[in-house]
Amino acid sequence: MTRAPAESEGGPATEGGRAAPGRDRREKTAHRLLNSSARKSYDPEIDIDWDAPLVEGKRYLPEHRSSLYGTALWERLSPEQRIELGKHEIASIATNGLWFEILLMQMLLREIYKADPTSGFAQYALTEIADECRHSTMFARMTERIGCPPYGPLPWRRRMAKLLPLISYGPAMYGAILVAEEILDRLQREQMNDPEVQPLVRMVNRIHVLEEARHVTFAREEVTRGVARLSGPELKYQQWLLAAVSHEVVQSLINPHVYKAVGIRPRDGYRAAMANPYYHETLRYAGERIMGFLDDNGLIGSVGMPLWRRAFLVADR
Ligand SMILES: [Fe+2]
Ligand SMILES: [Fe+2]
Repeated sequence: MTRAPAESEGGPATEGGRAAPGRDRREKTAHRLLNSSARKSYDPEIDIDWDAPLVEGKRYLPEHRSSLYGTALWERLSPEQRIELGKHEIASIATNGLWFEILLMQMLLREIYKADPTSGFAQYALTEIADECRHSTMFARMTERIGCPPYGPLPWRRRMAKLLPLISYGPAMYGAILVAEEILDRLQREQMNDPEVQPLVRMVNRIHVLEEARHVTFAREEVTRGVARLSGPELKYQQWLLAAVSHEVVQSLINPHVYKAVGIRPRDGYRAAMANPYYHETLRYAGERIMGFLDDNGLIGSVGMPLWRRAFLVADR
């Protein structure tokens, strides 16, 4: 989808008539991202051929990224069952991604509620929500197209997460957004170029990767600015909150019910995945880039360390 160029390039934000350096930079970034959004955005309704047939024998997920890869349960699956499991895993990841996006949109809307609507910040945040609306529709449609249930999170997790937009703010909020976005992004980048993966899944990943790059820039700057303003006890709270939310993000990616699709009891499949060193490695790979950034910004503290370890984002010593 090509949109008309952004209408206005507002001047630098001022506070009491004087330019404020932090806000200035925030506004500059927002306007740059607004311009980029105007130049390059996709409309999955138009840009994806939803009627194209799925390709026989192609995977939905690279084998080595399957949560059971390398386990005794995996060895018992036929080649067709391995593809089937990957299909249900990608549906689980997509519908959990959609759930993260809906939470993210709620959090951003709360920020916009307080913001000056004429600011670049508010306008970019609205643009990001518009992107996420299209992404969530795209993930839902892909799940429907490949014939999988709308797995999403387990019901207790979905209920618990309703609290998130109410209790999260500041760097932990943007940090948690980044953990969800960058974990998916790292895996999607790998898959969008894999010729063994279904063309539909590759196109969905390509669209998401392209548009998420702007979201990552936006949230990373908010984290860096926000951390600089935190005091000791508040930093500890933010470190803990970020670790707690990130733990739930990672644990929710694969809904245990996916294993039923290949005749494995959900409890057995999930337990095997959580004990699977190959899956731990996949999660570490997916989180590598964002964990480095959060650590550099002082958001990985001892207070959250047990949770980071249980999320396999920090290796056990
Ligand atoms: Fe998205
Ligand atoms: Fe995003």
